[in-house]
Amino acid sequence: MPAVKTTFVCQQCGAAAPKWAGQCATCGAWNTLVETLAAPRAIARTPSAARAVAGMAAISPISAVESAEAARLSSGIGEVDRVLGGGFVPGSILLFGGDPGIGKSTLLLQVAARLARDGRRVLYVTGEESAAQVRGRGERVGGVVEGLSLAATSDLATTLTAIDAAEADVVVVDSVQTIGSADLSGPAGSVGQVREVAARLAEVAKQTGTCVALVGHVTKEGTVAGPRTLEHLVDAVIYIEGERLGSTRLLRAAKNRFGSTDEVGVLEMRGDGLAEVADASRFFIESDEAPSAGAAVTIALEGTRPLAVEIQALCAPSAFGSPRRATTGIDTNRVLMLIAVLARHAGVNLASHDVYVNVAGGLRIDEPAADLAVAAALASSLRERPIDAATVLAGEVALSGRLRGAVRADRRWLEASRLGYRQLVTGPSRGSGSGSARGIVVARDIRAALGSALGD
Ligand code: TYD
Ligand code: MG
Repeated sequence: MPAVKTTFVCQQCGAAAPKWAGQCATCGAWNTLVETLAAPRAIARTPSAARAVAGMAAISPISAVESAEAARLSSGIGEVDRVLGGGFVPGSILLFGGDPGIGKSTLLLQVAARLARDGRRVLYVTGEESAAQVRGRGERVGGVVEGLSLAATSDLATTLTAIDAAEADVVVVDSVQTIGSADLSGPAGSVGQVREVAARLAEVAKQTGTCVALVGHVTKEGTVAGPRTLEHLVDAVIYIEGERLGSTRLLRAAKNRFGSTDEVGVLEMRGDGLAEVADASRFFIESDEAPSAGAAVTIALEGTRPLAVEIQALCAPSAFGSPRRATTGIDTNRVLMLIAVLARHAGVNLASHDVYVNVAGGLRIDEPAADLAVAAALASSLRERPIDAATVLAGEVALSGRLRGAVRADRRWLEASRLGYRQLVTGPSRGSGSGSARGIVVARDIRAALGSALGD
């Protein structure tokens, strides 16, 4: 086999060097040299691939080009399709990222099985686990299906041959960090390798119309395998998020050439894999029983999707000198700020209380519109008085105690009324038309809002 020439290319200035060095000799940047194939080999062309290449290079009137929309493959899981923008697009390459153990392999095996059951030829390439391990998971999630093939390899050339041999419509590569090209000296998972693997698979996708789904681990820095390495090369990046010990998983598109990045998908990890939840919007509310003190419901906007979420607070007299403050699903500093505002502007003094705040259902909320519900839950817990069961709250609390309306309050209110709530307490919005809809109560400051919610 002829030796393939590789060079080390600086990711900052593009200069090529024959050897790896810690610093780029041209621009002086550190740790930017990445091993790259000097002249990428032409992709091995089977007759069918060659036809596809010829067809693609030909000029055709735009009206004669088949729309990618029409050919979308449904994943069989509504929440996944929703985030993809309607299903997998043939000829596209996607990246599913997430922390180890979050459920990437589970989700993709389920999707692979569903596609195979719909009559597609699906190949699942596993570089991380043995075929037997994947089969074991398959038994658990109903993934032992005719039309779904497994290939256990960590070699790129073998993977490409397997894709070709399987004539796959859909290929899952689990994971992109465990597959490497023998032409590069770096270990699998290094920036050069990951880029090469993704680039070659992207070529296959575009040339043969195969849909390629890559699994990628998210590094501690929150990026997938080297900064921006993969995101440029793929058509869509979907993150699977959630608390490891909780069962809720959120799917979110960070990039999507074929759909919106505003959608979220809500899934639940069960004993037999990931499942859709019956009414996602109601999923994050603890119970339908009579309201208890310390619970407040807000309508959070995840992308453009409104979700009713219960905020739970517990204020208990502290046993020791300095009170404890602990939160899950919400920023602790934000809660500390709200505790201070409540003391100063609403007469709710928590200085000698331990405070615990929890977002139900394992969701994480980062938008300031959750402020008002957190503040109301705290006040409700301290006063041991439940919040009116038909009330939801959404608004940002300023340090002055003044409120600001939640963005897209109308959208939130629509969802709240669909769920049977009769009142949305919010703040004044900067635009006009605040409080125009019946059921929206506009409070100027935190004291007035607590009055509406707690009936002070
Ligand atoms: P996995 O898909 O292996 O995660 P990843 O590929 O992202 O590393 O899922 C790992 C976790 O999911 C594991 O801790 C067990 C759990 N799990 C379930 O709860 N139910 C199931 O049906 C399966 C297959 C896994
Ligand atoms: Mg895995």
